[in-house]
Amino acid sequence: MTNADMTRQRFTGRVALVTGGGSGIGRAVARALAAEGASVAVAGRDAATLAATVTLIEADGGTAAAIPADVTVAEQVSRLVDTTVDRFGALDVAVNNAGVLGRPGPLADVAEPDWHTVIDTNLTGVYLCMKHEIARMRGRGGAIVNISSNIGAHGRIPGLGVYGAAKAAVSALTRSTALEYIGENIRINAVSPGPSDTTMSLRPGETPADRTARLAAALPIGRVGTLPEITAAVLWLAADESGFTVGHDLVVDGGATA
Ligand SMILES: NC(=O)c1ccc[n+]([C@@H]2O[C@H](COP(=O)([O-])OP(=O)(O)OC[C@H]3O[C@@H](n4cnc5c(N)ncnc54)[C@H](O)[C@@H]3O)[C@@H](O)[C@H]2O)c1
Repeated sequence: MTNADMTRQRFTGRVALVTGGGSGIGRAVARALAAEGASVAVAGRDAATLAATVTLIEADGGTAAAIPADVTVAEQVSRLVDTTVDRFGALDVAVNNAGVLGRPGPLADVAEPDWHTVIDTNLTGVYLCMKHEIARMRGRGGAIVNISSNIGAHGRIPGLGVYGAAKAAVSALTRSTALEYIGENIRINAVSPGPSDTTMSLRPGETPADRTARLAAALPIGRVGTLPEITAAVLWLAADESGFTVGHDLVVDGGATA
């Protein structure tokens, strides 16, 4: 985060919910929202990593709560949104970021349980989160940012077909849902990162340099995306300054889909 970002307070008095907030992009987004004044509900499956995110936010002087929830389970998502509103009084911003890559491989080798895990987490999870978030935003407005992926728009990283199919569907669901609620002041957009600097894009035993070499065909800029670069896009779509941007899928991928 730059010093300029630190002085901006676009989310003062707002309540934000970030799924998958215990690591990677979700943790970075939760910290950035809190640094700009939001009270942040940090959600995910692993209580220990959520607590670590909250500790980081509080050390920076921010306000956050860890709320364990599995985004594939409807009752847990419903409870997550209720708990967020009970704790902080409202829901203004939701970043639906929880996701899994799945086990990479060509389609005929994809086991059915793996198919369901990737679709359930990346697509059904976004459906469930939006459903319950929208219910709480109706009547007062809000902003939702779904984390999709540029793999939804190209197939040049082999073995990610199921993941790409789920993410393409997230981008489509973002567009249609955005138009359904545009009249209620609920703005819904997506960010589609390219390969970024988190453990998700690293294979076991791989160094960051190995990763850049393996993904060269999908990285025309010659490197992966940094967390501040992805976070800046998410916060812009969550903030009032992007008020005329609706149903947009903001690709942040170093030119990979250009
Ligand atoms: N890192 C990349 O290269 C990249 C590129 C494009 C898109 N993305 C997307 O960005 C998002 C964040 O990924 P990341 O790179 O930070 O990886 P990550 O693995 O660090 O983060 C994913 C988070 O989602 C959580 N999660 C997984 N399943 C869940 C479930 N059922 N319920 C609740 N939480 C669950 C994980 O525990 C983890 O904290 C994902 O949606 C991913 O698909 C990542």
